[in-house]
Amino acid sequence: MSDPQPVFLSDYQPPAYRVTHAELTFDLDPDATRVKARLSIERHSDADADTPLILNGEHLKLISLAIDEKALDASSYQLDEKGLHIAQVPERFVLESDVEIAPQENTALEGLYQSNGMYCTQCEAEGFRRITFYPDRPDVMATFKVTVIGDQQREPVLLANGNPIERGNLEGGRHFATWEDPHPKPCYLFALVAGNLHCVEDHFTTMSGREVTLQIWVEKDNVDKTEHAMSSLKRAMAWDEQAYGREYDLDLFMIVAVNDFNMGAMENKGLNIFNSAAVLTHPHTATDAAFQNVEGIVAHEYFHNWSGNRVTCRDWFQLSLKEGFTVFRDQCFSADTNSAPVKRIQDVSFFRTAQFAEDAGPTAHPIRPDRFIEITNFYTLTIYEKGAEVVRMLRNLVGEERFRQGSDLYFERFDGQAVTIEDFVGCMAEVSGQDFSQFMRWYSQAGTPDIDAHGEYDYVHGEYHLTLRQRTPATPGQPNKLPLHIPVRMGLVGTKSGQDLTLTLNDEKLGKDAVIHLRDNEKTFIFTDVAEAPVPSLLREFSAPVKLHYPYSREDLAFLLTHDSDGFNRWDAGQRLALLALDDLIAAHRNGVEKVMDNRVTEAFKTLLTGSMSDKAVLAEMLTLPSEAYIAEQQPIVDVDAIHAAREFVRQSLAVALRKEFIAVYEANVTEQPYAPTPEQIAQRSLKNIALAYLMSIEDEQGLALCEAQFSADHNMTDVRQALTLLVHSDRDDLASPALKAFGEKWAHDPLVMDQWFTIQVSRPQADVLERVKYLMQHPAFSLKNPNKVRALIGAFAQNRVNFHRLDGQGYQLLTDVVIELNRLNPEIAARLITPLTRWQRFDETRQGLMRSQLERIQKEPLSSNVYEVVEKALA
Ligand code: ARG
Ligand code: ZN
Repeated sequence: MSDPQPVFLSDYQPPAYRVTHAELTFDLDPDATRVKARLSIERHSDADADTPLILNGEHLKLISLAIDEKALDASSYQLDEKGLHIAQVPERFVLESDVEIAPQENTALEGLYQSNGMYCTQCEAEGFRRITFYPDRPDVMATFKVTVIGDQQREPVLLANGNPIERGNLEGGRHFATWEDPHPKPCYLFALVAGNLHCVEDHFTTMSGREVTLQIWVEKDNVDKTEHAMSSLKRAMAWDEQAYGREYDLDLFMIVAVNDFNMGAMENKGLNIFNSAAVLTHPHTATDAAFQNVEGIVAHEYFHNWSGNRVTCRDWFQLSLKEGFTVFRDQCFSADTNSAPVKRIQDVSFFRTAQFAEDAGPTAHPIRPDRFIEITNFYTLTIYEKGAEVVRMLRNLVGEERFRQGSDLYFERFDGQAVTIEDFVGCMAEVSGQDFSQFMRWYSQAGTPDIDAHGEYDYVHGEYHLTLRQRTPATPGQPNKLPLHIPVRMGLVGTKSGQDLTLTLNDEKLGKDAVIHLRDNEKTFIFTDVAEAPVPSLLREFSAPVKLHYPYSREDLAFLLTHDSDGFNRWDAGQRLALLALDDLIAAHRNGVEKVMDNRVTEAFKTLLTGSMSDKAVLAEMLTLPSEAYIAEQQPIVDVDAIHAAREFVRQSLAVALRKEFIAVYEANVTEQPYAPTPEQIAQRSLKNIALAYLMSIEDEQGLALCEAQFSADHNMTDVRQALTLLVHSDRDDLASPALKAFGEKWAHDPLVMDQWFTIQVSRPQADVLERVKYLMQHPAFSLKNPNKVRALIGAFAQNRVNFHRLDGQGYQLLTDVVIELNRLNPEIAARLITPLTRWQRFDETRQGLMRSQLERIQKEPLSSNVYEVVEKALA
């Protein structure tokens, strides 16, 4: 077999044939589902009469084919494993096909498959070609009419996109339902669900007074876990009306929860399909983080109805057009609904850890890639999260009001069309009169820009000179980078007054907080009338997705931590201060010298713990040390053991020095109120649970008692999970084992809780974890075929830095064994699971060798195109 070949953005051609209407009939059967399609097709006026018709189709058994009711014999078409090629077709015709597929054998979870006995679909990006022969590309948009035939007992519920128009019984215990979707859509938004499902119903009245029925479909046992998703949906619908003027456009909106799902969820028109982990919540089964995640994902998929469905992508290179914009929209929604500063801190903290690592590794790619082998490999942090950061920069550049005008223009002008990133940015340029030609490089250049900043105060002239230099490191296929347009939001904080000073640049007064624009490789900004020596506060609110380097002293950072008017930068100053201390400790560990705690960090923490900071949610973030993964990001060569030891040393030193303060914070934040996922309660729980984590890091007697009591109280999953995690991650196996056992038995029936049970055990730092992973892979609740289980056990193990990176290479080997098996079962999940191995260049030589040899072992297998593409890049 020849190696899989990439497709290129530069090869884009508009479709020669369009499908105007599609009528599909599904006769469901686990091993032999029949799919009959009647496609109304028209040749594009620009295309020659002898242009062949090319339809995608994979894993389909062709039964019959007809054009305008005349059967085609095998000599009039060519069929291969990629699809169908018909040399001669009329200008306008109806193509009928009849194919057979086997949903039960579909372990890739793309196309039509079965999950827990129910039928469901996942078509984005290129899954529809596993359902029927079709031009499977987003710029072909048709209206759909779909009939689903199933068994009355096993599949009492038959769903598809749009509105139900007919249903009835058939002979042999079968029945059918017909659905019609009036909105033309690309086939990646097609969906079908059939099974024994129960529905929770609610209603929403839109801003123009239309009544929309809202339904969440789940398995019977989960009916009591839908309330939060439903209320989130209603909040999201109202928010999109108010923030973007966007109203829902059908009379029915459905969400279905399925257990086996590759990603979080999917925005199919009128019928969103969700990973059950992204919908189901209950105070006893889901943590605060899970509640917030559900809210964000429900909103995200709902927002796609406009940013994705009404206006879609011309081709998959434009994926970030819908994903970057929609992530930005859901981030703003969550910020408005909960704590805005905390949302920003959490998003940036995750972004700088995970997206920066992706952008610095062998799979780095621009927000708009120029080639791909397998598009499912490009549902990445770069396309989603960096895409959202770039939309955020645009919003900040044009201002809130213009941004709304630009988005209104975009939705109006391109409604019902499949468009490009230029179309979106063009609307922003049009309403603002700004020139975004340099800005567009953000979409084509991969890699995270480094900004070296340097400042000097000139006492004599009362000037502050700030020099910014940018450099984007080379990434695969892009050795030379051009300078980007980087908006830097900043202030100058006076060291005497502790206040933001007025910024005067080129005789223009910019106020106390302003955006300066770096467009060149290097530029010096001269601020005049600066009355006192300042400390610069740069990149406020993370105004651009860059790495900012400024030679702050620890005194500067301690000063910003208390005086910066920007909450985000106050938090960041604390992180930078901790990182400097950690750097010293990492060096001490490597050199075998005694570790000494930096008491500036201890003092800063003491001030935070005893001070009057009223925002408990932000306080909780400020008391959280940078993660091992983020610390690793800052090191030239990652030393996993030194990082772990240094971070533990800081945690324990803080716990010893501030024991009383942590106990006081714990006690002040215990509440007896019934659980609610409100920002106030969430903040209290985070604070309390962070305090408990510090106390448990030294296995403090009182801490242990609080921890055990919190576990036994069984008040809500956030508290129970934290207590169990802290016990399991401590050396007190005598306390941890019974708790773990009790928890596992209590929740054996609930797959989402068992996922947590797996994760807690395999993320402990103790050296027995590898054996535990192997043992748990045999547990009846584990299955390689279920992506959530793979993520909870294998994925979580690969995040366990000290154990995954064991020097005997057994961690890498275990992951590789799983990848090789999943390559056959579920290539999308297999390819994602390789990620930690692709980062081999970041480690010492021994580990590099071990990781590479495992990648080479994968490469010797017969590979799916997904895994092939990732491994090839990783070893290039
Ligand atoms: N569009 C979905 C979302 O909202 C993701 C679909 C991803 N599909 C896939 N096969 N990876 O993010
Ligand atoms: Zn999305």
